[in-house]
Amino acid sequence: MDFNRTVLVTGGSGFIGSHLVCSLVRRHPDWKIINLDNLDYCCSPRSLESVEDGANYTFIRGDVCNPRLLNHIFNTENIDVVFHLAAKTHVEASFVSPSSFRRVNIDGTRVVLAAARQARHRLQRFIYVSTDEVYGASLDEVFDESSPMRPSNPYSATKAAAEYLVKSYWDKYKFPIIITRSNNVYGPRQFTEKVIPRFLNLLKMNKKCTIHGTLPKSRHFLFVDDVIEAFLTVLEKGIVGEVYNVGTSYEIPIVQLARELIKMVKNVPDSELNDWLEFVPDRPRVDLRYPISCEKLQQLGWRAEVSWAEGIRQTVKWYQDNPDFWADTSEVRGPIGSKFESATDQ
Ligand SMILES: NC(=O)c1ccc[n+]([C@@H]2O[C@H](COP(=O)([O-])OP(=O)(O)OC[C@H]3O[C@@H](n4cnc5c(N)ncnc54)[C@H](O)[C@@H]3O)[C@@H](O)[C@H]2O)c1
Repeated sequence: MDFNRTVLVTGGSGFIGSHLVCSLVRRHPDWKIINLDNLDYCCSPRSLESVEDGANYTFIRGDVCNPRLLNHIFNTENIDVVFHLAAKTHVEASFVSPSSFRRVNIDGTRVVLAAARQARHRLQRFIYVSTDEVYGASLDEVFDESSPMRPSNPYSATKAAAEYLVKSYWDKYKFPIIITRSNNVYGPRQFTEKVIPRFLNLLKMNKKCTIHGTLPKSRHFLFVDDVIEAFLTVLEKGIVGEVYNVGTSYEIPIVQLARELIKMVKNVPDSELNDWLEFVPDRPRVDLRYPISCEKLQQLGWRAEVSWAEGIRQTVKWYQDNPDFWADTSEVRGPIGSKFESATDQ
């Protein structure tokens, strides 16, 4: 079958990547969607079962750090668009095992960029999915795309370093890159190491939601469908060489987030909400908040459409309807508890 466009999504089996792949496969039967992913601990094959038989979907299990594999993919497929999402993403784990973050997030990005540039077929867009965390924390400053990057943990430092690499391909070769920096994303199928599924998982096990430290941390949460729309807007209307913030004005303190989830899941009166909270010592270094402005993306016509009330309702319902999706998810599955336990490096 002839396809009008071939899109390579790296990290397409992960949380955001699987939503992106599903959306592309369903909306564009005339596009070939290739997912390259090494199926790290945070993936479930079930995330893509609704599209895995699609005639326009191909899965390649492999490592983005493998130049021979990437060169082979770019030399055998006429890739038009890359969405590069593959990454190590858990901030806490990045303190424990920074070298694995450096390898995947920086070296992996270098390998994908180099392979994409040497390909005979001319790439139309290379979209690098970065994070608001590259700005570092702010108390009152709202970051726009020209704000300096001041990452404050190993995860965000590797994302910022990868951004510099991506940007250098624009500066040196006019390679058609675009960078997105988005707020925290939430929604169905997110692995239980991230805050919303972590709280839901604890509550499912009748455990309390653990709040780290006493400082008033808050986060801006964007529903995953809105992020996918942002990526597609950037693909069609974004200007090459540019960076686009993807954000929401909706900000919620982590304690309030926990209380909302307790109320929804446990259905207890307000007077009993605190019984389900447990305050524990703070993590190595957690930024208080990351406010960003996304006027630049809004000028392309994008708006966050899903309200917090609707997004969190859909998310909680999904976790309730799919209690076994992350079958062996307890607090011990995941990088801190298992795979990375003995991997403390410099
Ligand atoms: N989740 C968020 O709140 C958020 C916010 C802003 C930006 N981002 C960025 O979006 C991207 C996706 O995030 P996510 O939340 O879906 O993360 P995730 O951890 O759910 O998914 C990451 C994916 O990358 C894959 N991967 C890891 N190492 C790989 C390797 N060496 N080769 C091939 N694949 C590999 C994993 O198997 C997984 O499928 C990341 O680049 C992340 O930095 C995420």
